[in-house]
Amino acid sequence: MPSAAARTPPRPHAPRASSTNRRTDVGPCFWVSPAGHEYFFRPPGVSDGAILWQLAKESGGLDLNSPYSYLMLGAHFADTCAIAERDARPVGFVSAFRSPMRPDTLFVWQVAVSRDERGQGLAKELLKHVLARPACRGVRQLEATVTPSNTASAALFQALAHEMGVPCRVVPGLTEDLFPGSHEREDTYVLGPMPRPARRHAGKTMKTMKKRGETS
Ligand SMILES: CC(C)(COP(=O)(O)OP(=O)(O)OC[C@H]1O[C@@H](n2cnc3c(N)ncnc32)[C@H](O)[C@@H]1OP(=O)(O)O)[C@@H](O)C(=O)NCCC(=O)NCCS
Repeated sequence: MPSAAARTPPRPHAPRASSTNRRTDVGPCFWVSPAGHEYFFRPPGVSDGAILWQLAKESGGLDLNSPYSYLMLGAHFADTCAIAERDARPVGFVSAFRSPMRPDTLFVWQVAVSRDERGQGLAKELLKHVLARPACRGVRQLEATVTPSNTASAALFQALAHEMGVPCRVVPGLTEDLFPGSHEREDTYVLGPMPRPARRHAGKTMKTMKKRGETS
């Protein structure tokens, strides 16, 4: 059977797409769900802003932000955001950014998956995909806020922490009184600390340096 990459025609913005199931690349790539559905993950562009807005609107569980703010995701935060397509149809996205004041923290702003595509691990995989990108090198924790009634969102972040083998703490976040009008409080989910990447062959490097007289 031909590979996923071989079956899908190459796109101009994804010259070297590969499967995240094989994790050979963290650029635009394919992921095949356990049910056998194939998804294409890529960073959003400015021209995806209206699509992201539409996905957020249809998701049913998100505060809908202004269309302008979704355009800004592609314009300024593309390397920490991802859009998922199935058969070239947008079906989900993650918007996130590294906290300017705490760059070791990836703050996940919104996650949405089309109703028909839910329950296959797509949201979790999109988050793992963003975390694996070079733009997230040095990220030690992930944060998101979740309203107490959003059990799907809470389950998503707990499942992600479990799969990554890191703790998930729930700490006080945004209280109701901070919002204009009525709004549930938002608890902060903190996943981490994430392990630092292994320093491969560190011992060997040290030995080599000693041999060369580069250490005292
Ligand atoms: C939350 C949302 C993004 C989850 O998308 P999804 O692709 O169905 O999630 P996944 O399939 O990756 O599920 C991840 C985990 O959460 C669990 N989960 C997902 N939806 C769930 C639900 N409604 N109830 C209980 N658990 C749920 C899954 O069982 C899975 O756990 P597992 O790995 O232990 O099996 C989706 O329901 C959605 O778009 N909701 C509306 C928007 C929203 O509320 N976004 C989150 C706030 S930012």
